[in-house]
Amino acid sequence: MEGTLADGSTATQTATFRTGLLNPGDWSPSAWITGGLEQTLLRTEFAVPADATTATLYVSGIGYFEAELNGVKVGDHQLDVGWTDYTKRVYYSSFDVSSMLKPGSSNALGVSLGNGWWSCGPSPGTTQPHCAADPPQLRLLLVADGVKTPLAYSAAGTWKASKGPITYNSLYNGEHYDARVAAALAGWSGAGFDDGTWAAATNATSAANGAVISSQLFEPIRHLARLPPASVGLPAAGVQVFDFGQNMAGVVALTGLKCAAGQNVTIRHAEVLQHPPYGPKDGNIYVGNLRGAQATDIYTCRGDGTGEDYTPTFTQHGFRYAEVTGLGAPLMPDQIRAVEMHTALSQHSAVEFGTPLLNKIQHAVLWGQKSNVMSVPTDCPQRDERRGWTGDAALTAEEALYNYGMGAVYSHWLDVFADDQAPNGGSNDFVPALGGGEGAPNWQSAFPTLIWGLLTYYGDGTMATKHFDALGKYYDNLEAEFNSTGAKGFRTGYGDWVVPPPHPMGDKHLIGMFALLHDLQMGEAIFASVPSRAEAAARRARLASLHARAAADFHTTFYDAAKGYYGSGLQTEQSMPLYLGIVPVAVKSKVFDHLVHDIEVTNGGHTTSGIIGIKCALEVLSAAGRTDVALRMLARTDYPSYGFMITHPDEPATTIWELWDSPTEGPGMNSRNHIMFGTVGSWFYKWLLGVTPLAPGYAPPVAAAATAAAAAAGANSSISVRPSGLGEVNLTRASGSVYTPLGDVTVAWALNASTRRLDLNTTIPPTALATVGVAIAAPAAGAPKRAADVTITEGGHPVWKDGKFVPGVAGVLSGALSADAKAVDFQVQAGAYAFAVSL
Ligand code: BGC
Repeated sequence: MEGTLADGSTATQTATFRTGLLNPGDWSPSAWITGGLEQTLLRTEFAVPADATTATLYVSGIGYFEAELNGVKVGDHQLDVGWTDYTKRVYYSSFDVSSMLKPGSSNALGVSLGNGWWSCGPSPGTTQPHCAADPPQLRLLLVADGVKTPLAYSAAGTWKASKGPITYNSLYNGEHYDARVAAALAGWSGAGFDDGTWAAATNATSAANGAVISSQLFEPIRHLARLPPASVGLPAAGVQVFDFGQNMAGVVALTGLKCAAGQNVTIRHAEVLQHPPYGPKDGNIYVGNLRGAQATDIYTCRGDGTGEDYTPTFTQHGFRYAEVTGLGAPLMPDQIRAVEMHTALSQHSAVEFGTPLLNKIQHAVLWGQKSNVMSVPTDCPQRDERRGWTGDAALTAEEALYNYGMGAVYSHWLDVFADDQAPNGGSNDFVPALGGGEGAPNWQSAFPTLIWGLLTYYGDGTMATKHFDALGKYYDNLEAEFNSTGAKGFRTGYGDWVVPPPHPMGDKHLIGMFALLHDLQMGEAIFASVPSRAEAAARRARLASLHARAAADFHTTFYDAAKGYYGSGLQTEQSMPLYLGIVPVAVKSKVFDHLVHDIEVTNGGHTTSGIIGIKCALEVLSAAGRTDVALRMLARTDYPSYGFMITHPDEPATTIWELWDSPTEGPGMNSRNHIMFGTVGSWFYKWLLGVTPLAPGYAPPVAAAATAAAAAAGANSSISVRPSGLGEVNLTRASGSVYTPLGDVTVAWALNASTRRLDLNTTIPPTALATVGVAIAAPAAGAPKRAADVTITEGGHPVWKDGKFVPGVAGVLSGALSADAKAVDFQVQAGAYAFAVSL
């Protein structure tokens, strides 16, 4: 590196950096090796020259690997590497192992392999799909800076294999660990261990060997919080049931076990305790809804009396309760922890309300979201499913993008979408697709939705560029489908999945058409972001014309002019076209009024929608200025409602349920930790906190530079801060912060119920211009105030008076009455603002 200093002199410094292994040839001379289905411990020894002090271990193992160097675990990843379509793409992880090396002497590497999604081991007994008969396999390369040849690498001749202490492992069923075997193998991953009885590892010959091997560039799965039990039950002699107070994804860790050699300690996991109709309320766990997943870990004691610890390695459970049996004396609470485990996403935004129920819903959304990212977004973490269901992720993408840093995970997952794209251009129901073809409308939509979401919320257009051609094929397929069926016969799939019984789902063709139109709208924005591709403009034009045709056909086909509503009048059927903005102006208020009437009057304030309809309904209510209706729905605690989940006496939800009526439904499809109804989470940020992007990634056009001059010249704001629901349904305050690539936007508003003073504090990050909508009318206060009658201050100085903007306050560039006359919109520069108004 060379730089010019302030005094004009030049300074040079040498900096070195390591790259990943970018080409298949970089892996030479390593090979994929295996010990077979049962011999899953692999080891080797190698000399390390005295001058080798900086070293990197590149390692991949499928299903999963755990590597140890000189007897110590390398890194802190769990269930590594991430899930892909292994025949097409396999990830590797890189670790700086410099401090673990012993230069100048013999070193040892030991790797334990798990089945994961790749293999089912020697005795499957699992309903897990797509278990290859292939055994787990390993690829590894250890290189040191300045040393020409690798210090170690996976190769048939130099590695040995043995059975290990993990005698059974399955994601669905759990793990069996025999600590007697572990004791006999003590020191196996250190130098000098006698592996004379071990077999030779052999070359693996699976289809995965031809896959692209690329660096895992997203957060690993890690052990995160360790939750102590909140309470312990004893439903029968020798049966302890620990309640960790939180439904989650993870494993249970036991410590200090005193047990005899060969004694089995069994841990079973469950989301809920038994209650009618499943059985008596006797404190026992209910596992019916885990279906074929046994979710049972068995630890066999070594019995040396020193106190034994166990945390499973190659499995994962979805649970709130753990039942422990097989111990002579009861386990003390400090001997057991629930270890939260999932892709280590960082939460980068937060929101909090003055209403406890809303906070509990948000809590359930956060836990539901993070426990459903296990290297790919999943439907659920507990039953025999846990797949990368795409519809669930498409719906909740906005919620996830607000709450967590999803960039890396979505980017890798989109690569797998492209790997598995159906021959006709369609995308899949779940990804990895496990051989499936084109997925259902609204499910396959995850492909454009995630690309659109990364662009909209993070300003990240790299996926739009990378998958431009795959998207082109995706849209060609949609066009062909619509051309052959029209709206009337459009593909249906799952429809508006899991509506609350006894309500009907509505017209599945209408719901399928919603997917088409929504995909087209996102597609236009996506293609607009790739001006580097010559055909982008033509693509956009084609989508726009298809959208116009499809929207017109939608209206003609599904609108009942005599009745003034779409379809059979269901909430979903009205919410979808309103959400899309395709309802002709002439009938828009009729349709909207019907929706409100159906919610408030016909259904007593309840939703009748499934996972897609509820998202649309909440959004369209707020967009039309009726956040009060949405809040009333959310304040309910009777069936069906979010509050019903949160306050249910038998099983108060700490994550979002799969079904509105989970506690009374059978085990067939009934998880208590599905994220697909978690869409309310993005509505919280958009409408109650009121923060939305007005440009991709909240980013101002470069030229705007957030100056007053730029604003005067008409530069558009790229951030909108416009909270709604002020004072409605007892909501008196909301606060939080929202990640943007420019820096956080913070908002805190409070409405004093007696003085009617509204305070709205917000900070806008550097370089942005924002429009802050300060309400001048809160319906709960009675008749809206007239704009001419209110005075709005910022930092105590008037910025709006006598119906006019008052210039002069630093950073507040302009103010104008909003289109609905319910707020004054101020355009502001970066900075902190404290607006106040009396309503
Ligand atoms: C999954 C869902 C998924 C649905 C589609 C279920 O089994 O758990 O989340 O979207 O199937 O049919």
